[in-house]
Amino acid sequence: MALLSHRQLFLDHVAQTSTYPLMLEIDRAEGIFIYDTAGKRYYDLNSGISVSSLGHRHPRVISAIKSQLDKHLHTMVYGEHIQTPQVAYARLLAQQLDPSLNSVYFLNSGSEVIEAAMKLAKRATGRYELISAYNAYHGSTQGAEGLRSDLPYSAAFMPLIPGIKHIAFNTEAELAKISCRTAAVIVEPVQAEAGVQLPAPGYLAALRERCTATGTLLIFDEIQTGFGRTGQLFAHQKYKVLPDVLCIGKAMGGGMPIGGLVADRTLLSLFSKNPDLGHITTFGGHPVVCAAAQATLEVMLEEDYIEQVAAKEKYIHSRLQHAIVREVRSSGLMMAVELTKRKYLKHVVSEAFEQGALVDYFLFNDRSFRLAPPLVYKQEQLASAMDILVSALDYAQGKYSS
Ligand SMILES: Cc1ncc(COP(=O)(O)O)c(C=O)c1O
Repeated sequence: MALLSHRQLFLDHVAQTSTYPLMLEIDRAEGIFIYDTAGKRYYDLNSGISVSSLGHRHPRVISAIKSQLDKHLHTMVYGEHIQTPQVAYARLLAQQLDPSLNSVYFLNSGSEVIEAAMKLAKRATGRYELISAYNAYHGSTQGAEGLRSDLPYSAAFMPLIPGIKHIAFNTEAELAKISCRTAAVIVEPVQAEAGVQLPAPGYLAALRERCTATGTLLIFDEIQTGFGRTGQLFAHQKYKVLPDVLCIGKAMGGGMPIGGLVADRTLLSLFSKNPDLGHITTFGGHPVVCAAAQATLEVMLEEDYIEQVAAKEKYIHSRLQHAIVREVRSSGLMMAVELTKRKYLKHVVSEAFEQGALVDYFLFNDRSFRLAPPLVYKQEQLASAMDILVSALDYAQGKYSS
């Protein structure tokens, strides 16, 4: 029997999310580089969608994982046993946050965190109306999907959950939709999949004010913006607006799957009474993953990668002034490069790939490509990666010049 290629096995046996997968066959990844099985090296300019902020296989993260492997793996469902990696991490995290964000409910993914946040808001307020922003992505489970405003997309999965409304991000007039019937507003402080839409000055503060006035919980989804991406540990610290509930994930685990719902302990304790076991998870807060998260946060606090974000952001802006670039929107190293014409986009992304740099599309913006490089790029590496991007922009421009 002929041996099937991994490519064929991937198509035959691994469930697909689209008919156009990237099909990069991974051999290994180290630092800012990903290597394919043919030995080709790629500059990672996406961090696996804002995950690998410390690059791939950071030695401190690997070592923390290895030492936890030698102690114990899963011992009991979440919330029963006291496990050192969990409590140590929860304390370190709380120390970085406002005193009101002092407790973390550990989960396995961003979507799960959003689900739990939605439940918590209902439980805490006795209301069921939830409000999210147009063009936000909060996850693919039914609740999180219900927050999506893209109705033609959601139609295939109806009915989702009732009681969800949308507001236009950055439009203060729409804040009037938030009322004493609203359990929570869930927003990203910087909208990611809309193509990096920054909060207008004063907008998040006005949102905070309206939520406080109506007794509505303000939930920030910092699953993409968290852990240094915007140039501070969390975007709400950068924009100086405090949520009642903070949702985190992605870069939190240094490449391992973890998410967290962070709030005041009195609020989170509602999951433990009326009813008790109001939210449960088998693997949430897995000890190996918490050990990885602890090492990730320690490195971020000890090294100056987050402080370097602003200079790297500025450098990328300076390199991407190009005839087919309309604008570069960014909050730190969370960046969208908007092109003058939509038709250029696929050529830039595919040519960058050919030349060994990984950039990606956004869900809700078909004119921009995503740049979210690991924060650990060295200046000369960033220069080489930008050389490739500029060359890809030239290539796309050349495609349409006569
Ligand atoms: C802002 C935001 N929230 C939530 C999620 C869902 O996270 P996960 O894919 O880990 O379920 C994502 C994933 O891309 C995201 O970008």
